[in-house]
Amino acid sequence: MSVLVTGGTGYIGSHVCVELLNAGRDIVVIDNFSNSSPKVLERITEITKKEPKFYEADILDEAALDKIFSENKIDSVIHLAGLKAVGESVQKPLEYYENNVTGSLHLFCAMRKAGVYNMVFSSSACVYGIPKRVPIVETDPLHTINPYGGTKLTIERILEDLAVSDSKWHISLLRYFNPIGAHESGLIGEDPNGIPNNLLPYVAQVAVGRLPYLNVFGNDYDTVDGTGVRDYIHVVDLAKGHLKALDKVEKTPGCSAYNLGTGTGYSVLQIVAAFEKASGKKVAYQIAPRRAGDAATCYADPSKAAKELGWKAEFGIEKMCEDLWNFTQKNPNGIR
Ligand code: NAD
Ligand code: UD1
Repeated sequence: MSVLVTGGTGYIGSHVCVELLNAGRDIVVIDNFSNSSPKVLERITEITKKEPKFYEADILDEAALDKIFSENKIDSVIHLAGLKAVGESVQKPLEYYENNVTGSLHLFCAMRKAGVYNMVFSSSACVYGIPKRVPIVETDPLHTINPYGGTKLTIERILEDLAVSDSKWHISLLRYFNPIGAHESGLIGEDPNGIPNNLLPYVAQVAVGRLPYLNVFGNDYDTVDGTGVRDYIHVVDLAKGHLKALDKVEKTPGCSAYNLGTGTGYSVLQIVAAFEKASGKKVAYQIAPRRAGDAATCYADPSKAAKELGWKAEFGIEKMCEDLWNFTQKNPNGIR
């Protein structure tokens, strides 16, 4: 039996594919390459010495999905395909709801038609909006502050409704905190299109000389040094969390949400210092105004995932920065 990985050539999906293949699982990967490249498939093969079965397909194309389910013995789906740029989602809400929500609906319909009911879904800490308290637990109030977050919360609700409708559905909602770093081979990692929105890819591009300096969005928050605090998690730890969630959904019905984070927060300036140490490069920065919609502090209570999935993040901030720097040096202009 195979695991279908949607969005499997993306940043997180490629790391999930590597962990699945290394664990001896058969996988079928689909992606429409809207934010990734076919080269990633070669890289996955280089790392694992295994060639994943791949379809260039869009999750909006239900006929293509039906064909994939009929041609393969799939028993579980890890669903990562989606658009993820918060700023772009504010400009293009319809495109985001269409791609992420309508695409997911097509996928769930195709799964039901094929009798496949195990689902691990890529959600996000953005479903907590601006958190009222930290660490965040899964039962904290959910609300969203941008269309991207709206798509994630909508998909979570659809999956919860499915689990209520039919006990055949086995679902894990994985709420990622801030995935960073890269596979230690340096062959796969985050490959942003254009100027990065997120902190770590931006810092890496400053260190490698592609960008002149980092804008630090606000230094007047109520945090250790005034800059924003986040729960950064190594992408390989995150990928391993998917395998644990897969084990769970293969055995247990219902729908459960899990925070995938380390439980530790780092400020922007602490990240800059950690990256300088890992890379031996200076990261120039200037203080800029706060970014709209940013929380001061956001970090997880990951104890539910530890208790119910047997998963815990292992890598610290040094390893996250070292692996990102290794990837950046090996791919100074990205993978594409
Ligand atoms: P990514 O853009 O690198 O990967 C997503 C992949 O999905 C890409 O390869 C893209 O080409 C593909 N895709 C998009 N729309 C598709 C469609 N309609 N049909 C087929 N393929 C499609 O992003 P990522 O960082 O790897 O994120 C993976 C998932 O995790 C996304 O759903 C994202 O929202 C979620 N997530 C990411 C983060 C993060 O910080 N990276 C945080 C929380 C949640
Ligand atoms: C962002 C998204 C969030 C998404 C998450 C992971 C917004 C408002 N939120 O969150 O929905 O789930 O990414 O993909 O975009 N920073 C700088 N300078 C930069 C970039 C970032 O100072 O150039 C600061 C931010 O203000 C923040 C921290 O670095 O304090 C982390 O930012 P980022 O990597 O964008 O992640 P989030 O803000 O957590």
